[in-house]
Amino acid sequence: MKNPKNIPIMRPLLPEAQYILPYLEKIDKNRWYSNFGPLTVDFQQRLEKFFDMEPGTVLTVANGTAGLTSTLRAFDLPKGSFCLIPSWTFMATPASAIASGLVPYFIDISKDSWAIEPESVKEWIKKVPGMVSAMIVVSPFGAPIDTIKWDTFSTETGIKVLIDAAAGFDSFSTIPKAKPGKCPVMISMHATKVFGIGEGGIIISSDINLMQRVQELINFGFSGTREIQLPGTNAKMSEYAAAVGLAALDLWSHKKAVWTRLKLHYIESFRDCFGDSVSSPWLLSDEWVSSVCNVSFPKLMAKDIVAALKNQGIEAKQWWTRGCHNHPAYAKFPQLELPVTETLADTVVGLPFSIDMPRADIDYVIENLRNITII
Ligand SMILES: Cc1ncc(COP(=O)(O)O)c(C=O)c1O
Repeated sequence: MKNPKNIPIMRPLLPEAQYILPYLEKIDKNRWYSNFGPLTVDFQQRLEKFFDMEPGTVLTVANGTAGLTSTLRAFDLPKGSFCLIPSWTFMATPASAIASGLVPYFIDISKDSWAIEPESVKEWIKKVPGMVSAMIVVSPFGAPIDTIKWDTFSTETGIKVLIDAAAGFDSFSTIPKAKPGKCPVMISMHATKVFGIGEGGIIISSDINLMQRVQELINFGFSGTREIQLPGTNAKMSEYAAAVGLAALDLWSHKKAVWTRLKLHYIESFRDCFGDSVSSPWLLSDEWVSSVCNVSFPKLMAKDIVAALKNQGIEAKQWWTRGCHNHPAYAKFPQLELPVTETLADTVVGLPFSIDMPRADIDYVIENLRNITII
């Protein structure tokens, strides 16, 4: 018999036309369509307040990947030097290192936080045969990262640190320890993210000089005159993307409340059904939200869970596949031992989560997971 359920892994919901329209009308009136126009400037200023940052510390970009690349380029590091990167990330992270002339060097993560921790990195760096000029710390699926620790690490070691918090729109604005500091933070506004606008990214850093260089690099290298000092690219946000962003900000507090209630339902259901037998930084806090629910059942293979759920009409996914180092494109890059990454690559499964997901669907997912885990 055909399964009646058909629960997708996600169904993004961006601001509807009625909320964007007033901003589109402003664009029609302004006749200014890109190049840091009035809507983009307004969006950036509202984001500065939102992240509790000073003027000039927030920049919007065309997408997160371009933002990562331009920020790494703004560090102005020796070509061919190593950039330490967790293999446990989306492939945009190492791609940005390569695009900025650095060589990705894959390192492992902590089994509790699913992120790189500064204490371990200090030890691991001793094993890297060559110059480490930078590293990208990745927030796993939006979990908060202690930014002060990384500012201290960067000052002590001289290594430039970029924080890839692609899914961290909420945690980096609400969790005090994750408030952006000097080390730049990138947040993606891709349609799949909790604060989605289609395509777009945000770069945040209290280092105003760095931010000015990033702004030049996303605008071909222009810095106020027609003479170019640094060869840049075009990664500016258009006024149309800013219009969606402004509408999304208007709606955010309502949407966050809805996401939070749904996340709580997942947290409580997992606690009731599985207790400590499931690991997931996402389930540890209802203070921040992101658009993906990832969990690891230590004794089960994620691919088997994905297949079993599919039979019941539930779409599940290994969002970060088997880690970047297992992709042919990245397998040739140097790496240290990656035991935690390998375990998470085998066991982490992404479950359905959408802002308008009925609670009954969450119950159905949990019920089926329980059947799978009992076997
Ligand atoms: C960890 C991580 N880094 C970078 C990106 C790239 O962001 P964007 O899609 O905005 O280019 C993503 C996108 O999902 C991501 O998950």
